Amino acid sequence: MTQDEMKQAVAQAAVEYIRPKLNTDSIVGVGTGSTANCFIDELAKIKHLFDGAVASSEATAERLKSHGIEVYDLNEVNQMDVYIDGADEFDPHLNLVKGGGGALTREKIVAAVAKEFVCIVDSSKQVDILGDFPLPVEVIPMARSYVARELVKLQGVPEYREGFVTDNGNVILDVYDLDILSPKALETKLNNLVGVVTNGLFANRGADVVLMATPEGVETLK
Ligand code: 5RP
Repeated sequence: MTQDEMKQAVAQAAVEYIRPKLNTDSIVGVGTGSTANCFIDELAKIKHLFDGAVASSEATAERLKSHGIEVYDLNEVNQMDVYIDGADEFDPHLNLVKGGGGALTREKIVAAVAKEFVCIVDSSKQVDILGDFPLPVEVIPMARSYVARELVKLQGVPEYREGFVTDNGNVILDVYDLDILSPKALETKLNNLVGVVTNGLFANRGADVVLMATPEGVETLK
């Protein structure tokens, strides 16, 4: 099974997972990335079962709309039962690294609102300890050099994501070589650096369930 086929399989599994939870008032939170895109295409097949979606990026909003799925502003939504999104890495405690696609801030906001966060991945994303994937940090542009110097003090090696601007008008530093042994503490510490909007560690609010595609089938990890 190719990686694309695994993404497709986990997207279908995610739709089956959420289907019993939906009703015609339901709002579905939808993440960003290639796995989330597969999910959106599958979600469109059951669009008659729910009211609409909240998107974690402009790209996701466009894809949802192209399928005729109503996209709501998060401020219009009082309750969201479920948020479905991919990840760049996940560990055995369902802590995540996200933001490879640069949508981490909106993803974290939508995840915070949702009652249940369902993470959809293929098995290449499974690690024992987070940190092989460079940790994305969204930064206010004028704080980029300051935050980079602070990240070096934390033993990280920040790299400016050249030519990339987030949907919020900010920049991304991808931080290599971080020792992520305490994901919750590091998430909080990085968020406390002045000029940081958010970072790609999803540990204080990790996934509630991970659906992981393997060549043998989709596993459910809780
Ligand atoms: C985007 C993300 C994505 O969920 C993450 O990068 C995984 O993407 P893909 O499904 O394409 O591997 O966090 O900001």
